[in-house]
Amino acid sequence: LFSGKKGKAMDNKLQSLIAEMEQLYQWDPPTQLRNSIEILDYLEPYICDSQIQGDDASGELYNMIRTSYQDLLASTQRHYQFLRRQIQLGGKSSCLAPWISIHQDEISGEGYDYLDVLVNGIFQFTSPDGKIVELTEEMVSYQPTPARRIFELISRISLTEHDIFVDLGSGMGHVPLLVAICTEANCIGIELEKAYVDCARLCARGLNLANVTFIQQDARSADFSQGTVFYLYTPFTGAILRDVLDSLRDEASRREIRICTYGPCTTTVAKEHWLEAIDPVELDQIALFHRRN
Ligand SMILES: C[S@@+](CC[C@H](N)C(=O)[O-])C[C@H]1O[C@@H](n2cnc3c(N)ncnc32)[C@H](O)[C@@H]1O
Repeated sequence: LFSGKKGKAMDNKLQSLIAEMEQLYQWDPPTQLRNSIEILDYLEPYICDSQIQGDDASGELYNMIRTSYQDLLASTQRHYQFLRRQIQLGGKSSCLAPWISIHQDEISGEGYDYLDVLVNGIFQFTSPDGKIVELTEEMVSYQPTPARRIFELISRISLTEHDIFVDLGSGMGHVPLLVAICTEANCIGIELEKAYVDCARLCARGLNLANVTFIQQDARSADFSQGTVFYLYTPFTGAILRDVLDSLRDEASRREIRICTYGPCTTTVAKEHWLEAIDPVELDQIALFHRRN
């Protein structure tokens, strides 16, 4: 890796990363954490590759990188612990505020990024324990909403302490957990898979969150009568989605509710005649709907 033409280019890149790492502590904490996560992500393949060899100079560079990597990793982990502690002590909404606002100017784009690493560093999920039940054809298997999209949801939907936010098919609970941390709303996650519900409950307990509950249930038989905002990241399709949308339409005929979607289900939900998009719908972003009057 560190020899020849390609090796020289790599040496230069790694050397400039070392210089960047030395500057890290001059930046504000959110930028610092973001850059640290991105540098760690870049370096990880080199650190994990035990086959890396080179001449003496490159060997020295590699040792330097490995030491810097370990220091940086330890410092990001301390930062996650610090944020966990703030959440546990009740300083919820303010501690993640810098990341909600950072997200605002980078709203485009799909996929996972440093915000997911940050959120997982805070949540510290245990691996799902126990058998994952096989879902039927119209049930979509687990994939979390990218953290960037959850922050987008939080910043666009203005939840108050009077809201009850319900994630239908909540998986390990990323969305209700983050909404519960960043807002005063009461949050509910409804999820069929027991192993995911157990992980989500454990995480909520570890963070001392009193405003989030997880229920193991098929969304079709859930009680929708308390919810004010319902979120769907394409948890199911076809007849199941139809059943759930019909139940939501019944609720909407009695009172104001809002529906938020992400992923392919947005196209189906946008066609519901009883719903109206609050903002223009962009398929790679969160879509917000309320009842058409
Ligand atoms: C695409 S994942 C979304 C996870 C979560 N909402 C998020 O955004 O991070 C879909 C989830 O829905 C769950 N699911 C599928 N069918 C379901 C049903 N009928 N009732 C409840 N949960 C269901 C799956 O187990 C899976 O965890």
